Amino acid sequence: MTRLAGKTSLVTGAARGIGEAIAKAFASEGAQVIVTDIDTDQGEAVADAIGGTFLRLDVSSEADWDNVARRFPTLDILVNNAGITGFEEQPTPSHDPENAQLSHWRAVHAVNLDGTFLGCRYAIRAMRAKGAGSIINISSRSGVVGVPMAAAYASSKAAIRNHTKSVALYCAAQGLNIRCNSIHPAAVMTPMWEPMLGQGPARAEREAAIVADTPMRRFGRPEEVAAIAVLLASDEAAYMTGAELTIDGGILAGSTGI
Ligand SMILES: NC(=O)c1ccc[n+]([C@@H]2O[C@H](COP(=O)([O-])OP(=O)(O)OC[C@H]3O[C@@H](n4cnc5c(N)ncnc54)[C@H](O)[C@@H]3O)[C@@H](O)[C@H]2O)c1
Repeated sequence: MTRLAGKTSLVTGAARGIGEAIAKAFASEGAQVIVTDIDTDQGEAVADAIGGTFLRLDVSSEADWDNVARRFPTLDILVNNAGITGFEEQPTPSHDPENAQLSHWRAVHAVNLDGTFLGCRYAIRAMRAKGAGSIINISSRSGVVGVPMAAAYASSKAAIRNHTKSVALYCAAQGLNIRCNSIHPAAVMTPMWEPMLGQGPARAEREAAIVADTPMRRFGRPEEVAAIAVLLASDEAAYMTGAELTIDGGILAGSTGI
């Protein structure tokens, strides 16, 4: 298990969920892993478990990224994974196009999109010395289709999808072997779903509705997304850049339930 041996990686939002699974998969493939998150306790626990290094990083903060650049001036792999839906707040604010507040719209874009922009900018600079590297941006199924009740999330994820291609083409044009690709998960069971699933009897019904809308009739697992990240991070994907990989149990393969 040494597909990433000798490589240094940084994963954002790695304290739990998909980011944690990616950090663990990278470590088990031989990479050095810098675990970053705003959740210090949980992030340190993940780093300890895999023999990695923890650094507090709010991806929406330019000053935090400057700190990362000072601490880690060179890098082989970056995963821009940290993301929010906008439904973390209680009571849950409106996120439809008619009723959403500008402050809520901006807050989602600050983490998801600004965070990815700042991460890509840092990574290009940190990978330039070797002239090679892999940047993996975690977008979403929601970056490919409209989501009326989560418009800021969908907009930010669509912009991540597009920025991935700008970064890929920029690096190629510069003669750099820095690849940039996006992963588009959907319905992966992580703590991100908690505010949307809620508690009580309605929770099982909501879960069942999501499963019924998924062609493979189940939720995905964070480890299944991590496996795709390992592939994109490794030299096996040497000719892949600007690509988007969906991992969604078949949701985006069709347009109706029949
Ligand atoms: N779970 C899914 O079904 C699903 C589907 C599509 C896309 N995604 C995307 O996958 C990524 C990971 O999602 P998840 O399901 O593991 O979510 P999660 O909520 O379980 O974990 C997100 C992590 O990001 C961290 N985080 C939040 N704001 C941050 C900030 N400003 N700076 C740094 N870290 C921050 C949180 O502390 C948390 O550890 C997100 O970008 C999400 O949009 C998830």
